[in-house]
Amino acid sequence: MCGIVGYVGAKNKAIDTVLEGLETLEYRGYDSAGIAYIEKDTISVHKAIGRVQALHDDLGPNVSKNTISIGHTRWATHGSPTVYNAHPHTNQDGSIAVVHNGIIENYEELRDFLKKKGYNFVSETDSEVIPHLLDYHLRKTRSFRVAFLQTLKALSGTFGLVVMTTHEPDVLFAARLGSPLVLGITNTNAIIFASDPAALIAHTKKVVFLNDYEYVIAKQDGTYALHDFMKDTKVVRDPEILAYDAEEAQLGDFAHFMLKEIYEVPQTIRSATLGRIKAEEGIVKLGGLEAVSEQLNYIDRIVIVACGTSYYAGLVGEYLIEEIAGIPVEVQYASEFKYRDEPFSRSTALLAISQSGETADTIAALKKVEDFGVLRLGIVNAVGSTIARMTDAGVYCHAGPERAVASTKAFVAQVTVLAQMALYLSKGNSPLYKPLLKELDALPQKAEQLLKLDATIQKMAKKYAHYNDFLFIGRKYDFPSALEGALKLKEISYIHAEGFAAGEMKHGPLAMIEPAFPTFAIAPNGSLLPKTVSNIEEIRARKGKVVAIGTQGNTQLKRLVDDVLYMPDTLEQTTPILSAIILQLFAYYVALERGHNVDRPRNLAKSVTVE
Ligand code: AGP
Repeated sequence: MCGIVGYVGAKNKAIDTVLEGLETLEYRGYDSAGIAYIEKDTISVHKAIGRVQALHDDLGPNVSKNTISIGHTRWATHGSPTVYNAHPHTNQDGSIAVVHNGIIENYEELRDFLKKKGYNFVSETDSEVIPHLLDYHLRKTRSFRVAFLQTLKALSGTFGLVVMTTHEPDVLFAARLGSPLVLGITNTNAIIFASDPAALIAHTKKVVFLNDYEYVIAKQDGTYALHDFMKDTKVVRDPEILAYDAEEAQLGDFAHFMLKEIYEVPQTIRSATLGRIKAEEGIVKLGGLEAVSEQLNYIDRIVIVACGTSYYAGLVGEYLIEEIAGIPVEVQYASEFKYRDEPFSRSTALLAISQSGETADTIAALKKVEDFGVLRLGIVNAVGSTIARMTDAGVYCHAGPERAVASTKAFVAQVTVLAQMALYLSKGNSPLYKPLLKELDALPQKAEQLLKLDATIQKMAKKYAHYNDFLFIGRKYDFPSALEGALKLKEISYIHAEGFAAGEMKHGPLAMIEPAFPTFAIAPNGSLLPKTVSNIEEIRARKGKVVAIGTQGNTQLKRLVDDVLYMPDTLEQTTPILSAIILQLFAYYVALERGHNVDRPRNLAKSVTVE
């Protein structure tokens, strides 16, 4: 998952716009960065290891602002993060430059073919075959547009790519197959390409999302033509207006995007329920499902596919939908779902959950059932994203852009939507219907209360920040929370953290417990509390330290554990939404204490658009 940006327009704003755009895309990958622009009929290329700032330094203050430029931030898939492997990649005479996001699966075969034709490679990347292939076809056809088309047809795998060439110095060529690409049209008629709208929203909200097999030829005068490169047909699609503003995607006065996004949780719950629940009238309205409401009547099984945090939200959804709507649910890792030969009846619905809507594994899961004739649903945050457009129907999270690699408000939004979906599917026939509707209405205030624990959690995090192992345990609705809490901690603090069903402790994990191996126990009031208290006592008997999340007023817990954080009383079905705030703040402050880059943890990227 790399970030790509391209600019062509009459104003000399190309380089600044590309660099700015790249900085907003660093969440997609930040091993190395590069930029290219055309000046006096020559393509200049600058590349640097690490962040985009290094490019600014390399370019210096005097570079001309220019009217055409392409740029790239890289998350290494093929080849280590070096300058040679950084994009843009060029052909041998430097007349063509390319930035690419995705994986060219037949790159070895193409590399061999091109080497036999006398082409030399300077990088280990798959992407470098693209400029040389363009060069090869150009020499044969003498037309860059034909060469571009022939190159696209020769590539297999996934690509979002933007190409510039001195053969047509006022034109950008862009194409998409399996990797996101959006085109923005500014009010000065410049055209901006990006792998994520966040990179261009500061300049325009008028965009066209490219679909698979589409390419664009964009000119400096602001005109562009959209085509399908498999059918060789022109595509007409009106621009749409992005639903959020640039400032929403910016940091504000928070130290990190992750903290900002945790503080947005109360608003996130409101946005995820806005216009969807009317607690007083007992109404749940999910407009995105209306079109398939008839079909939903025949659904007798739901398979949820997702990755990472979205998978854990799915596990909460499993309990919610089974308990409230009485429909059997199975949650599968999207990356495993692809390989199963499971029977799939037409009365089974596939529900894809994804914040970015671009996760390759989840896309692959949706592709797998494309011809099964099953209903494909989505719970997605990024409007207009690939997954949102692949499903038959779905419910947007409306959490706004989530920029920190560690998902926080999106998880809360996903669980909030799943609770509403369970109510919607129950058609009101659940004793939980009214109470849960009412509790969803009350949740934002309870979330606001929890944020007041910030300083307390920060202090506690300092106390536990230097352990190298951590166990998270919970039962029923709190088991997925334990898994998610462990993921939050491990992905930004790099501590070995594991989540377990509390009932599993005696079947093995208890053996690990010792003073140096603390446990985070999610132990809210409820029918299962006594059992979780027994687990806590088993741990304490082995001198294990315990941090607990309990319900306000449960003073017994305080006597049992080393530290306890209290949350407002809530239903067991909505506990994961509130406990998430505590778990997220804990992970945030531990990572901070360990001196890590909280928003950009090592080895990870926000949107995993490769399988
Ligand atoms: C969560 O904090 C991680 N960044 C990661 O597990 C993420 O949830 C996963 O990659 C799925 O992303 P998606 O929701 O955009 O599909």
